Amino acid sequence: MIGLGIETSCDETSIGIVEDGKKQIVLTLFSQIELHSAFKGVVPEIASRAHLEKINFLLETALEESGLKFTDLDYVAVTAYPGLLGSLMVGAQMARCLSYALEIPLIAVDHLEAHLNVVRMEEKDISFPYIGVLLSGGNSAIFQVDGFGNMRTIGDTKDDALGEAFDKVATLLNLGYPGGPAIEESARRFQGKTAPPFFPELLKDLPSDKIQFSYSGLKTAVLYYLKKNSTNTINIDEVAYHFQETAFQLVEKNIKRAVKLTGIRNVIAAGGVMANDTLRQRLNKVSQKMNFKFKYPEKKILCTDNGVMVACLGYYLLKEGKLAGIDFRVSPSRQEM
Ligand code: KG4
Repeated sequence: MIGLGIETSCDETSIGIVEDGKKQIVLTLFSQIELHSAFKGVVPEIASRAHLEKINFLLETALEESGLKFTDLDYVAVTAYPGLLGSLMVGAQMARCLSYALEIPLIAVDHLEAHLNVVRMEEKDISFPYIGVLLSGGNSAIFQVDGFGNMRTIGDTKDDALGEAFDKVATLLNLGYPGGPAIEESARRFQGKTAPPFFPELLKDLPSDKIQFSYSGLKTAVLYYLKKNSTNTINIDEVAYHFQETAFQLVEKNIKRAVKLTGIRNVIAAGGVMANDTLRQRLNKVSQKMNFKFKYPEKKILCTDNGVMVACLGYYLLKEGKLAGIDFRVSPSRQEM
């Protein structure tokens, strides 16, 4: 079964074609990073306009590269939520047109579930329930996933998302946008031996039955550190290193809690921040120590927003008969079951 996935929820326009929910046939992607970098964040109007300008070209390229015709497509899946409303509408409209014209099923996909579920492209043995950890520019959240289209939030952020914190702190440190890869590289350069805690532990007093993220305090701590110290005594790589360590300590703590509180020993992590090698290594070690199964997309391109993950989840929802009507609605937020 050949499925087309359309992703336009934020600042990546992407088309993926997948066979039987596990084999990638093609992935085309336009990243809008350069368009937004002057503003140090995603500008919604620029994002939707850029999706509109690129999406037809990306679809045509995907078909050309794969050697497939429109008539080879068995279904079309599209990100319906969460995301920027104007951006989601671009992908949704293309999906509606394709479904109507080709008379193929239409599947509306939860972007966050698609991020987690994409590990099925690399690993067949994923059973329910699992704990899903989403770490991206827009989300820091932990879910209990009980089935396809059936996931419930068990921990969320009360302010900034982790990727957002990377981006904001990178701006403070003059490391550029997007901040994630820049901070990771800077932190890797740090060879010193300053012992943590350089910045205070985050949510130190969080009750033991609670899972929560919060990163705005860490961003402020970095800002105060920079203001308090004179420029020539500040080692940017050292600050980046300690920012990263403090931020990841909270991820580790929340995952450990999720495993303990739910008793589920099956964890999947995804989202742009999971492209970070330091985080991957750290969480791998935790999983070995606590003896739970831990998966994340090995291919870094599958960590960030992409059409393949949409086509992949679409396949499993289709198999369960979870289809959308042509009049389905897109939404900026998730719809919890
Ligand atoms: O999932 P994603 O592509 O989409 C959005 O949420 O928009 O995540 C993008 C986020 C950005 O904030 C970026 O700085 C962060 O993921 N990111 C990273 C790394 N690569 C991307 N954060 C830390 N380390 C990285 N290597």
